[in-house]
Amino acid sequence: MSSSGREQFGSSLTYIMAMAGSAIGLGNIWRFPYMVGEHGGGAFIIAYIICGLFLAVPCFICEAMIGRRGRRDVYGSFEHLAPGTKWKWMGGVSVLASFIIVSFYCVVGGWSLDFLVRSLSGHLSQGDPEAAAGVFQRMASGTIEPISMYVAFLLATAIIVVGGVKKGIERFTKITTPLLFFLMVAMVIYSVSLPGAMAGVKYLLQPDISKLDASGWACALGQAFFSMSLGMGTVLVYSSFMKKEDSILKGGLWTAVSDTVFAIIAGFAIMPAVFSAGIEPTAGPSLVYETLPYIFAKMGAEAPVLSFVMTVVFFLAILSAALTSSISMLEVCIEHAVHRFGCKRWTAAVVFLIPILALGVPCVLSFGGLSGFKIFGLTVFDLCDYLSSNVLMTLGALAFALFVGWYMKKDDVRDELTNGGTLGLSGKAFKPLYFFIRWVVPPAIIIIFVSTLV
Ligand code: TRP
Repeated sequence: MSSSGREQFGSSLTYIMAMAGSAIGLGNIWRFPYMVGEHGGGAFIIAYIICGLFLAVPCFICEAMIGRRGRRDVYGSFEHLAPGTKWKWMGGVSVLASFIIVSFYCVVGGWSLDFLVRSLSGHLSQGDPEAAAGVFQRMASGTIEPISMYVAFLLATAIIVVGGVKKGIERFTKITTPLLFFLMVAMVIYSVSLPGAMAGVKYLLQPDISKLDASGWACALGQAFFSMSLGMGTVLVYSSFMKKEDSILKGGLWTAVSDTVFAIIAGFAIMPAVFSAGIEPTAGPSLVYETLPYIFAKMGAEAPVLSFVMTVVFFLAILSAALTSSISMLEVCIEHAVHRFGCKRWTAAVVFLIPILALGVPCVLSFGGLSGFKIFGLTVFDLCDYLSSNVLMTLGALAFALFVGWYMKKDDVRDELTNGGTLGLSGKAFKPLYFFIRWVVPPAIIIIFVSTLV
């Protein structure tokens, strides 16, 4: 497939906005707080920041480099950069991982849509705070309602993706991400002021390092990769649309910083309210959706109109953050089908929707009719969640790092990072970064990965 005439992001800001749009999503608002709750609070945050800075950022740079140099989908980029080798199989692995992630991610996207509908009817902002946690349980354990919301969210994702990368993505990210940021900050302030919330603040700020075991580290690494959309081709495919003059290092750092700030703010918006409401921090995937109705109902008891507006705008913003992430996953699948089989984007979307639905519906029902159905002790939803971040993405990111560190020529890596020697800062960063990519990143990922198996 020729790379000439390939669409490009208009500017480096647009690239960063699109990357941040993919990175900032339910991973920050829904997944991060529940991971923090499951792995001992502040200690997990420290592990997460270490993994993010020292492992996820270098892995981001590797994946972006392969995409921009390859200028194709995952399969095509590897075929182009390593002709005649098995590296191109990474294309298949990426499609598999994206497919699994999109299948369960849309479940949480569907919950957000459901909550938006409920907030429009005033249902969330005017209820009884004590009964609020039950709203989620009743909704998620149903059948028709969560499945229809799932399908609606998935269809919205597919429709945006088929619209094309530029049109689809650029329009979305610009307004809603800053909006979400301000709403979350407001929620931190409110959440911290709730009765009993200080226990939650302490939980986040006084890390108990003894709580951090091998599984905590593995989950911190998996969360860092999940949150930065790493290891399964999203960064690669987006970067294939990146201009030659833009800085990969800058893209990686900006994505990491904005993504981490969002996650930590979400932690501080949710955890104090968890303690105030008396919800178990270890509740798992349901944690945030049990806590949010409590926050909004409390707010509604004091200022009903404000709470109503805030709830509607908040879920609208979450929904759009979730969509800019889910489109980035489906994009990997669609790019693959278009480049490998030359089919139209909409044909590819229709073809992928069938298996996604087949896996997605059992994921939805994992909170209801299928909650007792377990594989390796996990529900279908939990298995997809675990398998994708802790196994597929971790191994995917490792493969990308090995490719850049050990397969690509050093001069090519330097050329790509510094844009042919024109970027001073990246030039200075090259030596330590290259050393890191070769000697620190792969062993660290392997050690963390293997320690959880043992
Ligand atoms: N990073 C996104 C979030 O935090 C989720 C996401 C988008 C993703 N694309 C991905 C996760 C690719 C893994 C791989 O919500």
